[in-house]
Amino acid sequence: MLKYDFLVIGSGAAGLRAAVELAFHGSVAIITKSAVGEGSSEHAQGGVAVVLSDEDDIVLHYEDTIKAGDGLCDKDAVMTLVDEGPKYIKELIKWGAQFDMHGDHLDFTREAAHSVNRIIHAHGDATGREIVRALKSYAEKLEKITYLQNYFALDLLMANGEVFGIKAIDEEKKEIVNIFSKGVILATGGAGRLFKRTTNPEVATGDGLSIAFRAGAVLKDLEFYQFHPTALHLPDTPAFLLSESMRGEGGVLRNIKKERFCFNYHEKGELAPRDVVSRAIFFEMEKTDAEYVYLDMTHLEKEFVKNRFPKIYSTLKEFGLDITKDLIPVSPAAHYYMGGIETDVWGRTKVSGLYACGECACTGVHGANRLASNSLLESVVFGGRAAKAAVIDLMDKEINEISDNNFSYKECSASNQIKELQDIMWKYVSIARDENGLLSALEYVDSKLSDFRDEVSVCRNCMEYYNMLQLAKMMILAALTRKGSRGAHYRRDFPERIKENWHIVFENAEFNPIIR
Ligand code: FAD
Ligand code: SIN
Repeated sequence: MLKYDFLVIGSGAAGLRAAVELAFHGSVAIITKSAVGEGSSEHAQGGVAVVLSDEDDIVLHYEDTIKAGDGLCDKDAVMTLVDEGPKYIKELIKWGAQFDMHGDHLDFTREAAHSVNRIIHAHGDATGREIVRALKSYAEKLEKITYLQNYFALDLLMANGEVFGIKAIDEEKKEIVNIFSKGVILATGGAGRLFKRTTNPEVATGDGLSIAFRAGAVLKDLEFYQFHPTALHLPDTPAFLLSESMRGEGGVLRNIKKERFCFNYHEKGELAPRDVVSRAIFFEMEKTDAEYVYLDMTHLEKEFVKNRFPKIYSTLKEFGLDITKDLIPVSPAAHYYMGGIETDVWGRTKVSGLYACGECACTGVHGANRLASNSLLESVVFGGRAAKAAVIDLMDKEINEISDNNFSYKECSASNQIKELQDIMWKYVSIARDENGLLSALEYVDSKLSDFRDEVSVCRNCMEYYNMLQLAKMMILAALTRKGSRGAHYRRDFPERIKENWHIVFENAEFNPIIR
């Protein structure tokens, strides 16, 4: 019998931070569908935005975040993030995280839409790896944490509207198990794998959002998906991220004719908000009939570039490019989901016993477009807060070992269908959307979803596909409903910015977009 006080689904920065907090108050299992730590956190490059420099102020960080979010952020959530951020990062440093130093001070870099240098980083461009390493090594000292690796969370175990654990696939034994608890924290990360071009790792299939949706939680802001402007564009090569901090350190963008173009789209040029730069690249590619533009670092001091971006330098060397000498072909790629499971500033969802934190959650900190490097901060701040809330809410709760055996295990492969879905989503639901394209995508997704009716034999692959289809459907419906442009959501047929502040939500497990 698998039974713990608390379950955390996901072992990225948010899940690990939550588990550490919970371990002081009871037994915790971290359930993770791959190896511990494998997720977007591990791959994060640029850094963490946090007010720790003498030249900075939480009001400035607050204002930059709200501005990047194009006015749709939740102000309380933003204030919580920027105000508590320094405390959580100092705690990480105390637990062993080593950020890059300039003399005896932290080294702060600049990224797009930040008004001051406030991004701290580690090993140059391997910030996420260092944060995950520090959290993992701290967590290892806490005996109350059990790791269930290669366990795929399928659905929540519920009784009378309350959560009592999860149903999961034990991938090694190839069987379905019930894991009981007082409550569950979802920290399952993003959904970049919905799209053909993405910076996200394979695990980012949006499972947590679809699991929460099926349990009746509210999903919010699903039309807002962020596309990173600069991912490597080479044939048969992954869309490896070229960090925004490369532009922060002086890198420039050139079109296929080698002309700079970003200032034609925004007064801040390459350092305009991310959604603006991604669209500028997209339109420039259309204008020049090219599949990519160039990121140019060749005018910068070579040793500086090599030392500042060691991971990027060595990775691109493997692909035959020397970033100190060659122009780098880049184009946008799906990167970060602003939308997610609606929570309050303590990670509580509408469902009793269910919490969410990190990229799968929608606290409202990012609004319509995330400010660069705010999400690692979000993961640690709200990971810690969700755990604190769970401890307070659930301490006296009795675990109900409900019996629920409505799934059986059966291996299958949905890989080709997933690839087809990714192509459709990239073509019709990415940087520039319009009604006809969105309707074609909806028709496609609906036809595929109908194949799943009454399916009870499952495996990880087909459940990921099912989760992606459900989420794709809601993203498309939300994008159709927002007839206008705002932040990262751009409609070619309605390019005008919608001025009124409203949000779209899905609730009660219904595919019915509600304007709120
Ligand atoms: P993740 O780190 O993605 O972890 C999700 C976890 O959930 C994984 O362990 C996964 O295996 C598990 N999981 C998912 N579904 C299931 C399931 N069904 N069952 C069991 N387990 C499951 N942000 C910044 O602030 N600064 C940066 O410099 C930065 N750089 C980035 C670079 C890249 C290449 C990428 C992809 C993202 C970057 N981001 C950056 C964004 C940031 O890394 C993420 O938003 C953040 O790390 C998310 O953390 P998380 O813990 O919520 O999710
Ligand atoms: C990057 O390094 O460009 C990624 C930063 C982020 O996504 O916040």
